[in-house]
Amino acid sequence: MLAGRALVRGRLQPVEIAIDDAGRIRSLGKIVGGGPRHDVGESVILPAATDLHVHFREPGGPPEAETIASGTIGAALGGVSLVGEMPNTRPPVTDVESWQEKSSLVAGRAAVDVLLYASPVVPRELAFLARRAGGFKVYLSPTTGIENVPAASELPALWDRLSELRLPVSVHAEDPTRFVSAGRPTSPADWDRARPVAAEEAAIGELTDAPKSLRLHVAHVTTAAGARSLRNAGISFEATPHHLLLSDKVGADARLKVNPPLRTEPQREALWEAFRRGEVPIVASDHAPHPRDAKELPFDRAPSGVPGVETLLPVLLSRVRAGELDLGVLQAAACDRPARWLGQPLGRLLPGHRANLIVVDFTNRFRIDGRTLHSPCGWTPFEGWEAIRPQEHYRDGVRVVEGGEYVGRPDGRVVRPEYASGEPAATLTDAD
Ligand code: NCD
Ligand code: ZN
Repeated sequence: MLAGRALVRGRLQPVEIAIDDAGRIRSLGKIVGGGPRHDVGESVILPAATDLHVHFREPGGPPEAETIASGTIGAALGGVSLVGEMPNTRPPVTDVESWQEKSSLVAGRAAVDVLLYASPVVPRELAFLARRAGGFKVYLSPTTGIENVPAASELPALWDRLSELRLPVSVHAEDPTRFVSAGRPTSPADWDRARPVAAEEAAIGELTDAPKSLRLHVAHVTTAAGARSLRNAGISFEATPHHLLLSDKVGADARLKVNPPLRTEPQREALWEAFRRGEVPIVASDHAPHPRDAKELPFDRAPSGVPGVETLLPVLLSRVRAGELDLGVLQAAACDRPARWLGQPLGRLLPGHRANLIVVDFTNRFRIDGRTLHSPCGWTPFEGWEAIRPQEHYRDGVRVVEGGEYVGRPDGRVVRPEYASGEPAATLTDAD
């Protein structure tokens, strides 16, 4: 029994959460006392978050890179109990072998559950992948580890095929025919001009015509206009903390090179206002932990991407404390909707849901220091920002973070949407 305060019908109220032997929420009610209970007092109990967009670098990363083990501990410390791991590892997850290689790295090593996306670029592999993967990721433009992307003319057939397979499909929406090459980029502002808003809005414009039967989700939307078109079309999408909180008005720092680029301050502010109004359904980190030395290369040669799985909730909880963001808006975007999108019984304080819960003490602030975060990359775009990290994190009712320290075991599993056809990935054998 966990007692504390939680959002119930939009208001923070004292509650008691009873957890059954299977680690599910049994009931949620007013404090009645009696029985063994852990009382967190004024602290707030939230459902743990789901980060549906991360890039750990296994398999194929260099020895110093993020692994499934390190990345999932960072997730646990940040209050994230499920990550959606993207397929642009080496080799990319496109077929039987690459799928098996990556999924075998999860068992006994992951601190939280992992949903593995596959890349649908090899048509004859799609049926196999659809029985294992948790979702598909489609890149419309080249990015880290992905050079070849489908031509616009190939997309209608791809959407039809992916509609039949029913899994969620996340799309990196930038139209590379709208990229502008005007000299060597040396700053985030140059990068913004090279991969302009027009490229993103063109790609989003095309996607709004995709078949309604496709479970389509657009990754890292950077503008309020893009968000509005997707909302009007009824298409799921995410924004990242870096696009919500950082603009391209920073010096020539390759660490802040990311795809899509950081936008101008007015564009960032408009996206943040849309998020605050609850008009951005999902927040996700696009955690891309490039090593520090790669980010010290000249801007044009440095890789794109910023880390973020461990800071996703902490930086936004700090905005809640500052009165700039409603806790209910954050809880819906970080916990409820991404889990629902991925077909998982978590993310809400609901009887029957997994008791994946975090405890947040809003008086316990800290300053983010890249060197003390768990990722081996050792840096963060939010260096020095005030943040609030969960003091406790429970997975299936078992404490995995205590006093802000990881105390769990690597028993995370590969999961896939409950609505997906076929069997859960964990019970399939190689012969299937
Ligand atoms: C990502 C990475 O490094 O894996 N980089 C990025 O800039 N976001 C890939 C991606 O999502 O485009
Ligand atoms: Zn990404």
